[in-house]
Amino acid sequence: MKVYAGSDHGGFNLKNTLIRKLEQLGHQVEDLGTNSADSCDYPDYAHAVADKVLADSGSMGLLICGSGIGISMAANRHPGIRAALCRTGLEAELSRMHNDANVLVLGERITGQALAEDILEKFMAAGFEGGRHSNRVKKIEIE
Ligand code: RB5
Repeated sequence: MKVYAGSDHGGFNLKNTLIRKLEQLGHQVEDLGTNSADSCDYPDYAHAVADKVLADSGSMGLLICGSGIGISMAANRHPGIRAALCRTGLEAELSRMHNDANVLVLGERITGQALAEDILEKFMAAGFEGGRHSNRVKKIEIE
């Protein structure tokens, strides 16, 4: 699967770790920055990843900031983006199975590396169940 990854400085270290993890799992990753631990603005990376995911059907996004909160707020301003801020593996699975999440969001200052890797693995392995969830997911968008 193609995955577009982005973070601000608060998520920079975890982004690098999780890109390696995605590549080990056989996914193709495009890193949209940030490229250092210098202070920067998380919405810039949320918008960059959201634009790429929307333009590339079937792709996924990975976004990380310090808490995961700001970057998920920004990503979810894009119609068609369903960015899920996950703190557990179960949330990651449910966000895919029930909500057809297309962007996984993590907070580096909240979630440790081993748990973040487990969350990522579960997110990538789970699939949308469709059925009764399809209409609910369609209703997320305001017409
Ligand atoms: C940056 O210090 C921090 O505010 C940012 O990474 C994020 O946590 C915002 O929601």
